[in-house]
Amino acid sequence: MTDTTEIWMGLNFLREGKSKRIYVKDVSTIVLEFKDFVTAFDGARKDNVLGKGVVNARISAYLFRRLEEEGIKTHFIEYDGCRRITVKKLDMVPLEVIVRNYAYGSLLRRMPLFKPLSKLEPPIVEFHYKDDRLHDPLVLREDVVGAGLLTDGEVEEIIKLSLKINEFLTSLFEERGLKFIDVKFEFGRDSEGEFLLADEITGDSFRVIDSDGRHLDKEVYRKGATPQELISRYLELLRKLGIEVCEDDLRC
Ligand SMILES: Nc1ncnc2c1ncn2[C@@H]1O[C@H](COP(=O)(O)OP(=O)(O)OP(=O)(O)O)[C@@H](O)[C@H]1O
Ligand SMILES: [Mg+2]
Repeated sequence: MTDTTEIWMGLNFLREGKSKRIYVKDVSTIVLEFKDFVTAFDGARKDNVLGKGVVNARISAYLFRRLEEEGIKTHFIEYDGCRRITVKKLDMVPLEVIVRNYAYGSLLRRMPLFKPLSKLEPPIVEFHYKDDRLHDPLVLREDVVGAGLLTDGEVEEIIKLSLKINEFLTSLFEERGLKFIDVKFEFGRDSEGEFLLADEITGDSFRVIDSDGRHLDKEVYRKGATPQELISRYLELLRKLGIEVCEDDLRC
């Protein structure tokens, strides 16, 4: 993330990450603006992708709303219909919580005894410490507690919450004939100290395959697909979920 100061539509630009820009709305609210930009392999591959910002803001807004309807608390407040979501400003926990339903990706590299895409019953929950320079290393529950990041009870709470969110998303995708392979969540504390689901829920943060084993997520880009191929998969994902998006929307 880089820090600069700039004003956009009366909002103070706070900082810019790889996929989003953050603006401050007021003391308790920020705006996440999704960029038309994709990166992979810690930024080693990067491209502009027309429409990606809109598509990712739209799917995030849709899924946050569906989770809220299920009684799951998230940072989501509103969607501007384009590429920006207004969210509650949280005190972020610097962890990526990964829930795995099927063996894939880095799990296969660290434990090659898993058959690719075999079902993980129960799902595996992992913690990764968010630090790009260290490549977001896998950390133990004991590391998280020992380093004072979370108490043992809070770790338990976050695991339960992650499994509940994963269960809901898994069935939502399954209803549309899609296999929900794995997902990355980020959490933060609100002013009352309660954990809320934050950041984004997009094809950049989960892997999902159709009945032919085709990825409708960023994996296609990691495997060499062009930015155009990536956006067409993302549009297919939105269509499968019944989320409307037209050509003009992509340029808003
Ligand atoms: N509700 C929230 N309150 C405060 N910060 C948030 C909230 N939701 C997400 N964030 C943070 O905003 C940033 C979003 O930017 P982006 O995802 O582009 O960053 P990034 O380059 O991927 O870097 P990072 O590795 O920190 O995610 C992330 O650091 C994320 O943790
Ligand atoms: Mg990020």
